[in-house]
Formats: sequence, structure tokens, C-alpha cells
Amino acid sequence: MASSASAEPILEVSGLVKHYPLTQGILFRKQVGAVKAVDGVDFTLHRGETLGIVGESGCGKSTVAKMLVNLEKPTAGEIRYKGEDVTGLSGKALRAVRRNIQMVFQDPYTSLNPRMTVGDIIGEPYEIHPEVAPKGDRRKKVQDLLDVVGLNPEYINRYPHQFSGGQRQRIGIARGLALRPEVIVADEPVSALDVSVQAQVINLLDRLQSEFELSYLFIAHDLSIVRHISDRVGVMYLGRIVEIGRDAEIYDHPTHPYTQALLSAVPVPDPEARERRERIILAGDVPSPTNIPSGCRFRTRCWKAEERCALEVPALAVPAEFRLSIGPAAHPSACHFAEEKQVVPPEEPPGQTRADHGDGAP
Ligand SMILES: Nc1ncnc2c1ncn2[C@@H]1O[C@H](COP(=O)(O)OP(=O)(O)OP(=O)(O)O)[C@@H](O)[C@H]1O
Ligand code: SF4
Ligand SMILES: [Mg+2]
Repeated sequence: MASSASAEPILEVSGLVKHYPLTQGILFRKQVGAVKAVDGVDFTLHRGETLGIVGESGCGKSTVAKMLVNLEKPTAGEIRYKGEDVTGLSGKALRAVRRNIQMVFQDPYTSLNPRMTVGDIIGEPYEIHPEVAPKGDRRKKVQDLLDVVGLNPEYINRYPHQFSGGQRQRIGIARGLALRPEVIVADEPVSALDVSVQAQVINLLDRLQSEFELSYLFIAHDLSIVRHISDRVGVMYLGRIVEIGRDAEIYDHPTHPYTQALLSAVPVPDPEARERRERIILAGDVPSPTNIPSGCRFRTRCWKAEERCALEVPALAVPAEFRLSIGPAAHPSACHFAEEKQVVPPEEPPGQTRADHGDGAP
């Protein structure tokens, strides 16, 4: 998506954890366990790039997003913005960082207050950050934002119910841009939209990225959506990233069994390629985040699991057998028995990959 992606980190996340306590008792509440929604997530977002985060429902994607924009406090771990740990900040310093990391939400129907006009919705962030737009300038700024996202500036006094789903998501995006952030965390921004509208909103995000030099963390549960917009992709399972790399590395050379299973379910338009593709059906359901399996958390559904998988937690690192190669399989994968497997026929000819950096690269 981003041709101007650089190797300069803008967000660095390490050991990020969010455990929600599970309590019992009415008078004396006692903690009896925890929902391990996010359980040790590491990634780097570089300036100007789009990092896609993909995983099944409940794997912790939205919880990561909420911690990045400070809607949730991490239980443990570090979030660095331009090198500074921002997890412990408060007051003015926190507000300054929040201004630069904004979120676009999944559901354009419920995320906009139905009783506020579009002008008030988009301009609301200026109430918290009046330094960005003094009161007299706000109307003009909001109209400019409407124009930027492809809506008629004259709609400023209308209410959300007067817009279609795609238009509402444009309003959500305009609101996300109001404070001129550097990072946008987009949590499934097109999942609630019709397929025909999805492409328009993705094209808009693409254009805005170059226009405003934005870095995106783009969350989706569908690997096929993320492919067309991401420079790199991280695959999440039960609170952790299990594989991360450039998009061609993940789509054409996946080494983690979970990624391979997800890819085997991606729609393939070419019927001949669809015939040749191997379908991997995973056994069982995703375990509860209150009771995560020992060792590799994917082992209860993995067709390759061995004794070692129950005993040792696999680290998210370039697997030893690929460490000396510079090929596309040499990217971080949390599997003791990582093996390259091409599940989907490649889409792009070799040499036409996207931005040239990865978590495993210097
Ligand atoms: N406030 C909370 N209290 C307790 N558990 C929570 C809370 N918020 C989320 N969870 C649990 O944490 C886990 C991760 O939730 P999260 O919303 O981050 O998943 P997700 O990957 O975004 O899923 P989806 O694709 O459905 O949006 C789920 O099991 C969810 O039930
Ligand atoms: S570590 Fe074992 S259980 Fe986990 S993904 Fe690899 S082979 Fe499967
Ligand atoms: Mg979610």
C-alpha cells in the first residue's frame, strides 16, 4: 500500500499483555482466573507502512488496538512511540501522544453518536485539543475534512442516519484525521460494509496514507482483505502473534501451520488454482483464553503437534533452519517444526513485492 514506507520505527510494541481478572463471590470478590485476551505481543510499525494484523474472532486484535490508543491499560509490556515508552504517561504528555495515534472503528453504525451532527462528531476531538483548531476555525476545518474523505462539505449539519454505511465509515475516518495524527489504528474498518463499498473505503485509506504520510495498523479477520493493503502482515492466535513478515513471505511462503490453515480458506478467484489448492481443516475449536494450552498454544488444533509442543513455548523468531538463508521463508514464525508450504498459488510475479523491510530485517 505504502510506497514511502521507511525502516524508521514509529511504534514498537514488546511483551504486551492484557489479562482481564475473572472474579467470583458477591460480598468478597475473589480472583479465580483471568481472560488472557492479549498474552505477549511484539511488533514494530515503521513510518509510512501498513502492518496488517489478522486472526480469528476473539484472538485479541481489538484489545491490542485499544491499548495502542489508550482505551485500555496494559497489564504488562511496553508501547514505544518514536522511541519513548508511553505506557506510564499521564496528563499533558499522554494527551500529546494520543493526539498522534488515532483509531477508526469497525462498525460505522454504532460508533457514531446518532444524536450528534456530522460536524459535531468530526469536530469533537478539537474539544480535547483546542490547540489544533481554535473555535472560530473549526467549521472550516470540518468542511475541509469532509471534502478530503469524499463527502459534500454541505452535509455538515446532517445526522449519521442520513448516510449509507460507506459514507458513515468516511465520517469515522474524517474524525480519525481531525487531529492530524501520524498513526491510524483501523480496527476492521471495512468488515461491516458491502463488498462493493469495501474497495472504495480501502482506496480512500490508501490515498490518505500518501497525502497525510500516515502509518497504519490495519486489523482484519480476513487474510484476503489485508493482502491488498499491507506491506507486512502479522497473524494472531489466542493472544499472540504466531507469524509475521512481508506480505509475499506470509502469503506465498508461510511456515506456521496456523497461517497455512488460514490461507487454505482464502477465496481464490481462478477456478483452476482453486482446484489445485489444498484445504486444511482445523480440528476442534479455539481454546478459551482463560485456559491457554501449555507450550505451543496452537497445539490442540495442530496436525503436526509432537510431545515437544506441549512442553516448550515456541519463540516468535526466524526458525533455525531458515536463519542462514535470505529466502522468503526466513521470517519470524513461532513453531518448533516450521516448514515452508505454498498453500495459495502466488499472485504477483517474483521481484514485485512491496516495501523492503521486515521485523527480521535490520
Ligand atoms: N472487558 C473485557 N472483559 C473480559 N474479557 C474481555 C474484555 N474485552 C475482551 N475480552 C475477551 O478478550 C478476548 C479478546 O477479545 P478481542 O475483542 O480483543 O478479540 P478480537 O480479536 O478483536 O475479536 P473479533 O474479531 O470478534 O473482533 C475475547 O475472549 C473477549 O471475550
Ligand atoms: S510448535 Fe508444534 S503445535 Fe505449535 S504450530 Fe508448531 S508443530 Fe504445531
Ligand atoms: Mg475485534
